[in-house]
Amino acid sequence: MKNNVLTEQILPEDLEILSLRPKYLNEYIGQEKVKEMMDIFIKAAKNRNEALDHVLLYGPPGLGKTTLANIIANEIGVNIKVTSGPSIERSGDLAVILTSLEPGDILFIDEIHRLPRIVEEILYPAMEDFVIDIIVGRDSTSKSIRVELPPFTLVGATTRFGDLSSPLRDRFGVVHKLEYYTTEELTLICKRTASIFETEIHEDALFEIARRSRGTPRITNRLFRRVRDFADVLNHGIVSKEMCELALNKLHIDEIGLDNKDYDYLRGIIDNFQGGPVGLESIAASIGEEATTIEDVYEPFLLQLGFIQRTPRGRVATDKAYKHLKKAHNERLF
Ligand SMILES: Nc1ncnc2c1ncn2[C@@H]1O[C@H](COP(=O)(O)OP(=O)(O)OP(=O)(O)O)[C@@H](O)[C@H]1O
Ligand SMILES: [Mg+2]
Repeated sequence: MKNNVLTEQILPEDLEILSLRPKYLNEYIGQEKVKEMMDIFIKAAKNRNEALDHVLLYGPPGLGKTTLANIIANEIGVNIKVTSGPSIERSGDLAVILTSLEPGDILFIDEIHRLPRIVEEILYPAMEDFVIDIIVGRDSTSKSIRVELPPFTLVGATTRFGDLSSPLRDRFGVVHKLEYYTTEELTLICKRTASIFETEIHEDALFEIARRSRGTPRITNRLFRRVRDFADVLNHGIVSKEMCELALNKLHIDEIGLDNKDYDYLRGIIDNFQGGPVGLESIAASIGEEATTIEDVYEPFLLQLGFIQRTPRGRVATDKAYKHLKKAHNERLF
């Protein structure tokens, strides 16, 4: 995801999404453990008038990492600078950002696992001692100058905890994994979204959207907007269960939130590779999808459902997956 505020172009739909972002901890639904801890750490840092310890948030896309980073800044009452690993190409880029921070500010680095190695090395002393070493001059006349930084808080986000180098990981004082949301929590999130958009929505419609959201608030909000389109045109704007079923079935999102891509992936393993084990690259090639997308976006939820297993020899489709696909297949036949 592109998250560089300096370069990002904001579209009308993005503005709508931004208005949905909870601004304070008490509006952030679910993730109770993370919220409870962050609440304490934020209060302690505020009382001592110190910068909060560096925070690393990880977990599948769309679970609220960026949202939480913004909430931390709002709760403490400091500025947040937003950037991302792939957009910082040279160590100089990072030096410019770091030296522009005010005391206590938050620096949010999304996709922090994609920081180039040389840039990452600048971060170590910055995180630990609030200093950076800048090389000036060339060749034999070059020397390193130490620049002091204001105390700041780095909030890093990643979908790939395992890809972080251990020196980087070790420099975060607070490390949290965001979990998939329950259907009940997603129902509340959908209710909140509907009320922000002043849309009438039935209780059973909230549930229908929530259970098809694959545990992910971003998907809840997206499905809500699609269903609202159908309701606006066909049902005087009222979001009923029938509207949800109509819209979501047309979008090929099944009753547990799987879409065509998930079906392609599962059928890929089952039909092309006899259910596995099969290597990620082979599945990716057989269904024409990027291996990283499969790994970051599709597999985490299918693993959570228990539809696939990762074994040393590759991916395996489980009985649960077979059962679900057969059922879906029969439903489509009749
Ligand atoms: N706990 C929550 N309560 C209510 N809404 C939420 C919550 N978490 C996320 N959302 C909604 O979901 C949307 C997606 O969240 P966010 O952009 O923070 O995800 P992310 O984890 O940063 O994803 P990515 O890894 O793709 O960058 C937000 O715009 C927000 O409206
Ligand atoms: Mg994000």
